[in-house]
Amino acid sequence: MNEITIATTLQVYDDISELPLAIQNLMSSAVEVRDNAYAPYSKFNVGAALLLDNGEVIVGSNQENASYPSGLCAERTAVYYAGAKYPESKILKMAITASSQNQITDKPIPPCGACRQAIAEYEIKQNTPIEIYFMGAKGKVVKSNSLANLLPLLFDNSVL
Ligand code: THU
Repeated sequence: MNEITIATTLQVYDDISELPLAIQNLMSSAVEVRDNAYAPYSKFNVGAALLLDNGEVIVGSNQENASYPSGLCAERTAVYYAGAKYPESKILKMAITASSQNQITDKPIPPCGACRQAIAEYEIKQNTPIEIYFMGAKGKVVKSNSLANLLPLLFDNSVL
């Protein structure tokens, strides 16, 4: 038996103001679109903003459905929109923010497992890491230098 240890390194900032202006602006876009979430069931609003290599910012918010599994997370709404509108462009950076309608969300909210798998597909396709920044409604911001850092042992098309 061999044991393997999987480690990841993330950067944690106390406040968004510690990050470069370009990231603050991208997070502001995510905050703005977070208000467009359609989340009548969970009351949990999420916004995501992507910076593409063509300079465009693509945004997404979670869109829920009375048939719960038919809803979609903010992150996937954004990456699928980017893939649909600018299929040749690379996603360089992604900012994510979440805010509950019921309580103050003051800790960083990471993308769910399904979204990590979806984002991984684009990171592999473009062969360039996607920087990911995530936070709650206020407080600390976590940075990951790539999606792969957030999803060890990801499933990819090399096995198909
Ligand atoms: N949600 C996201 O938009 N992104 C995530 O990574 C986690 C969860 C949404 C889905 C649902 O509308 C609500 O948050 C509660 O799960």
